[in-house]
Amino acid sequence: MNKKMTITSIQKAKGNNSLVMITAYDALFAKLLAPSADMILVGDSLNMSFAGKSDTLSATLEQMIYHTKAVCNGAKNSFIICDMPFGTYANKDDALKNSIKVFQETSADSIKIEGGEDKAEIINYLTSNGIAVCGHIGLLPQAVRGDGGYKIKGKNQEEELQLIKDAQAVEDAGVFCVVIEGVKPEVARIVANSINIPVIGIGAGVDVDGQVLVFSDMLGLFEEFTPKFVKKYLDGATLIKDAVQNYADEVKNKTFPTQEHTY
Ligand code: KIV
Repeated sequence: MNKKMTITSIQKAKGNNSLVMITAYDALFAKLLAPSADMILVGDSLNMSFAGKSDTLSATLEQMIYHTKAVCNGAKNSFIICDMPFGTYANKDDALKNSIKVFQETSADSIKIEGGEDKAEIINYLTSNGIAVCGHIGLLPQAVRGDGGYKIKGKNQEEELQLIKDAQAVEDAGVFCVVIEGVKPEVARIVANSINIPVIGIGAGVDVDGQVLVFSDMLGLFEEFTPKFVKKYLDGATLIKDAVQNYADEVKNKTFPTQEHTY
């Protein structure tokens, strides 16, 4: 069994060992993914791939807690991060109350919050009250409606400087690592070099301290759309559909069950 990562070992990985983060939403997949992952993120992306919604904004705290409990059951030896859903950390008091609920009702090791400089005060309030926080800067999926779409960040000097400020502000506020999403690789590299905590990229190139992918994207299970940064390591959708068609054919033509699968 792999040794469970801690905040200390995650932070020590910077500059030494590229960190593997992957999402999981249930016990079954968490158990399958855990042996290869340093951290498991119960991302609010589950609202799209599991709940079938068009974005993450309608995910609820109850939903995130339900899925986080399941992931904790399936991956007892993993460092688990629960994504705080949209609207649950808009001010310090809500953020603390809702994070405490996550910590009390699940065994998640950390929560994740989207936002940079603008969220630093809230993050600082959480970390000074015993909540471990993973940051998330760059393209923020929870801002998709406010931004009018999924917009790549760091496209000009002003955005690049803002990203550096965001990274430094969340580091100063006490996050132990930060996800950077949808940023040009050269900008992500500069951001990663500007802080002392691990920067985990998604759609941000290779010159960061680790990578995160949504498991249903990288296993080819989610068919609605495929972001450019997703590499499909498996054609899961085809494999599953073929297997189920095979089962359906055998049920129709009565070649299943055979003696082998009968009491
Ligand atoms: O919700 C999620 O899965 C995420 C990742 C895209 C980092 O936040």
